[in-house]
Amino acid sequence: MLDFINDQKRTHYAEDLNNDIIGQNVTLMGWVHRRRDLGGLIFIDLRDVSGIIQIVIYPENEKVYQKARKLRNEYVIAASGKVQARDKKNINKKMKTGNLEVEVNELLFLNDSQPLPVQINENVLAEEDLRLKYRYLDLRRERLKKIILMRHEIVFAMREFLTEHKFREIETPMLMKSTPEGARDYLVPSRVHQGKFFALPQSPQIYKQLLMISGFDRYFQIARCFRDEDLRADRQPEFTQLDLEISFVSQDEIFSIMEMMFFYIFHKVKKEKIEIPFTRMTYADAMNDYGTDKPDTRFEMKLKNISDIVRNSTFKVFSGTIQANGEVRCINAKKCAAFSRREIDELTDLAKHVGGKGLAFTKVENGKLTSGISKFLSEDEMKAIIKLTEAENGDLILYAADKKNIVFKVLAEIRNFLGKKLKLYDKKEFNFLWITDFPLFEYNEDDEKWETAHHMFTLPKTEHLPYFETGEFEKIQGQLYDLVCNGIELSSGSIRCHRLDIQKKIFDVLGFNEQELEEKFGFFLNALKFGTPPHGGIAPGIDRIVMLMSGAASIRDVIPFPKTLQATDLMSESPAKVSEKQLRELGIEIKREK
Ligand code: AMO
Ligand code: AMP
Repeated sequence: MLDFINDQKRTHYAEDLNNDIIGQNVTLMGWVHRRRDLGGLIFIDLRDVSGIIQIVIYPENEKVYQKARKLRNEYVIAASGKVQARDKKNINKKMKTGNLEVEVNELLFLNDSQPLPVQINENVLAEEDLRLKYRYLDLRRERLKKIILMRHEIVFAMREFLTEHKFREIETPMLMKSTPEGARDYLVPSRVHQGKFFALPQSPQIYKQLLMISGFDRYFQIARCFRDEDLRADRQPEFTQLDLEISFVSQDEIFSIMEMMFFYIFHKVKKEKIEIPFTRMTYADAMNDYGTDKPDTRFEMKLKNISDIVRNSTFKVFSGTIQANGEVRCINAKKCAAFSRREIDELTDLAKHVGGKGLAFTKVENGKLTSGISKFLSEDEMKAIIKLTEAENGDLILYAADKKNIVFKVLAEIRNFLGKKLKLYDKKEFNFLWITDFPLFEYNEDDEKWETAHHMFTLPKTEHLPYFETGEFEKIQGQLYDLVCNGIELSSGSIRCHRLDIQKKIFDVLGFNEQELEEKFGFFLNALKFGTPPHGGIAPGIDRIVMLMSGAASIRDVIPFPKTLQATDLMSESPAKVSEKQLRELGIEIKREK
């Protein structure tokens, strides 16, 4: 009973139909999105990749009519007929082609479909696990389809812009040597060399630097990266970077190229003009004012340090914390004094969730701090806090006392939560921000050793080189930068260490010995000896850019076939066991199964 396509050819997509072709014969191919049988007439919404068009089948056309009666949702058809204007009373203003319909005179019934296990109606979304199991059906949903198509537009615009600016797209290996980039590697066992492993790239960092040594000058790649790390709403184990690198370049030049590129993409894909150049903020200011190196600057609510004010307070939570080398900071949640007990408890839980011990609060009424911890504060302390936070009646002040990094974490989290809850920003706004002047090293208290804040190939600020000799490593800033938008880290990059002598100093601080260095990076350190040009680059995360531009709340919505938060693929049910034979060939024995 099913038909094959013989000489029929699709002449139009749904979105191609408009008033200009009324009266023409067209052939459309797609799915039965919806079908209505009105006694005599059959109406079908035919859906293809571009959109939906209504087709009508009249009983007078007996053969076609009998075929159409058998059609059900998601059956696959080809329909030919004349484009007509709908009667005024039948116009559907919600549909792009709502004033048109096609009167069918030939119908091919190309395939049937079982009832779908997940509905593709946006209003009745099935739970995510089921949708991921049937991802190929979930992708039929209008919203997901639009995002995936937008992703193409964005990547295409990147390629266009960069090619125009003399960048060349060059591929680098997927099977490479494990190099420390920060996260855990995904390893690939070698059959030919049993007991040895490749790693999948966490990023093409080393290769792009090698390409600069080769002399390619301007490189880019739409690069798949693999990191075995804890997943979050904006993290996947397998994600995509626009990786790029430039020789003979300064930080300012990289900023300017990126600003032009983002301007181009937003203009081309969203028809929007974003403001360039982007604002710049030092890492120190970002931490001090927002408690994070990726602040959402669409709203104020800055952190205020009240450590000096409450140093000798009778409130022991505050004074005790400061004595133990901690800090007390607060934020002023404007006009939030009316928060209920439940709302404040919710904030306290959030503070505890990110590692805080609690969240103290006071309200502001009649020019005074009231309720919460106000009874523990002196008149002078209250006055000073009101002044510093520019508090007004009706405000709510929230305090965190702890080690500095915990205070930052807690208040940054509360601030982001409130920004969203209180709708302090316009969702359509894009607030790009460069974060600069990062420290090159961070001291890891637990492991008692220095680590790099970004990665180990970053060039220190030249004026900070003397600190290597004096051992004041905490004072060394790197020529490294992040691009942040609306509180999301979109890109990271740096000017690289092109000189072996400086690169070695960095490895010294990190505590690599000669043998480790040789094993891990011997090939790379050797390459630096052969006329390495000064170079630098950046890598915007494409998934996050698509999230931002499409308004998707989860990174899984912008990846056609994503992994779950547990790093599994529910559709293909992987990771999965492999055969004994495969394991034997690799020389691998499974000791313990979970
Ligand atoms: P970095 O590790 O900061 O830098 O990564 C750059 C950008 O990649 C995105 N990103 C991710 N996106 C989704 N899921 C993940 N798990 C994930 N991890 C990172 C972010 C981030 O800003 N080689 C350097 C770049 C350079 O210095 O040129 C690098 O990989 O948007
Ligand atoms: P307690 O004295 O533990 O009952 O705490 C009094 C108030 O201070 C409560 O609102 C706690 O949530 C809050 N609090 C306790 N520890 C801290 C802290 N480290 N930082 C901020 N607030 C705290």
